[in-house]
Amino acid sequence: MQVAPSILSADFGKLEAEVQAICAADCDLVHIDVMDGHFVPNLTLGPVVVKSVAKAATKPLDIHLMVQNNSFFVDLFAPFKPEFISFHIEEEKHANRLTQKIRNFGIRPAVVLNPHTGIECIDYLLEYIDMVLVMSVNPGFGGQKFIPNVLEKIKLLKDRIEIRNPKCLIEVDGGVSDVNIKDLREAGVDIVVAGSYVFSGDYRQRIASLK
Ligand code: DX5
Ligand code: ZN
Repeated sequence: MQVAPSILSADFGKLEAEVQAICAADCDLVHIDVMDGHFVPNLTLGPVVVKSVAKAATKPLDIHLMVQNNSFFVDLFAPFKPEFISFHIEEEKHANRLTQKIRNFGIRPAVVLNPHTGIECIDYLLEYIDMVLVMSVNPGFGGQKFIPNVLEKIKLLKDRIEIRNPKCLIEVDGGVSDVNIKDLREAGVDIVVAGSYVFSGDYRQRIASLK
């Protein structure tokens, strides 16, 4: 299991040190939650802050867009050369085109599903993306409770991925901790995002407990 701590739960007063600390604590990716105050009822960070995060990070960046106008934000963040940029399918009319745009920047495209969104709407997208990010909370805030029926969705998704693009990864985001990690592993998840769980304890120990 790969672990991507979400810096949303970091202490932004010492963000550089926090990013260095999770990277030194053996995380696999640095998860960055971009919220625009429109798609979700919260506002987080823009390119000025992400530039500093990119400088401090020694692990690849995983940018999760929770925004309207995805294409504009892809242009803003592509210069930081993240490993992944993921966008919400609920907010994108031209998803296939956007995956191509992300890939043309040399970045791996990923699509995000809200907790209520079924997997049918991405069936014809699976062969064009490198990862599906399954939300296990409603996007917008850290520290929320894991929604258990996403486990069923992950299993259905795993079956479709085996048929359409076996290389496509599954990432889960929201309410992940040592309590549900076994279920997630058994369901076939490749990467977990964890914010409050990692940042509320010893970073190395918490990350190791999810691997
Ligand atoms: C929620 C974000 C998550 C969040 C996870 O909108 O996408 O990445 O920071 O935080 P926890 O792990 O605390 O649920
Ligand atoms: Zn996220």
